[in-house]
Amino acid sequence: MSLPSQPAIFVEPFAGGGIISLTAAFEQLADLIVMVELDEQIAAVWQTILAGDAQWLAKRILNFDLSPESAKAEFTKTPNSQCERAFQTILKNRTAHGGILAEGAGVLKNGENGKGILSRWYPQTIARRITNIELVAKRIEFIHGDAFEVMTQHRKNKDAVFFIDPPYTAGGKSAGSRLYTHSVVDHEKLFSICKNLKGDFLMTYDNAEEVLALAKRHGFETKAISMKNTHHAEMDELLIGRDLSWVEDGGIFREESTPYKVAPSKTKPRRAKRS
Ligand SMILES: C[S@@+](CC[C@H](N)C(=O)[O-])C[C@H]1O[C@@H](n2cnc3c(N)ncnc32)[C@H](O)[C@@H]1O
Repeated sequence: MSLPSQPAIFVEPFAGGGIISLTAAFEQLADLIVMVELDEQIAAVWQTILAGDAQWLAKRILNFDLSPESAKAEFTKTPNSQCERAFQTILKNRTAHGGILAEGAGVLKNGENGKGILSRWYPQTIARRITNIELVAKRIEFIHGDAFEVMTQHRKNKDAVFFIDPPYTAGGKSAGSRLYTHSVVDHEKLFSICKNLKGDFLMTYDNAEEVLALAKRHGFETKAISMKNTHHAEMDELLIGRDLSWVEDGGIFREESTPYKVAPSKTKPRRAKRS
């Protein structure tokens, strides 16, 4: 977000892989980063890393000998600790179709380049990214909880800014429900909370009629942008905020293919060169 002064608090209420929060933390764009996530699998990853067990998790990843059999055996286990749940989540994210954690996502058979289940398993890279996060852990507060509650708690703080990327389910869109375990969001309520925030905010949504209507009703500005997602398909997304005059027209933003990426130079949604 392009702001005249550095905010004291950066809040990402629907954190998921938290790429924007991590960027804010690494680039020291705020004094405190607050990440909120309802999903217990994703929460386990953040809690493990931020509670001082990043090295354990990195080692667990490096020592795991991945095969279809070993992955299957891992997924039948009930995790007996938060750290083990975190490991299962990462394994699932890297071996399931589209990285989908929600129930029903199949494990990669052919995968990228025909490498099957191994096609997105880069243990060294994943482990390094996880241990890198430790470097900024003291600046991040993770809350396993509800976005609406935390936004409401911070609503009167004019020094808090919010990056809001909820599951896309407005107007009956199904992508959000397929991708996330927690996909039911009261979009009307979310917009009302945003309306009452003292601090600035930026929302991202899919570019749907219902979303445009919601934004208009609440007096927000919208700007359509093109995103390249993990499958390189272009799709229209919508930025929503009080004043989007800082967003340049045109260009394409790229969505990073994996969560838990932390290298600052690569993590930011960046404008691609126009062809
Ligand atoms: C579109 S994803 C966010 C992706 C994120 N921007 C990233 O970089 O990976 C939406 C996330 O919101 C979470 N979620 C859904 N309802 C929530 C709620 N009420 N409170 C907190 N998190 C919620 C989902 O579990 C999902 O991880």
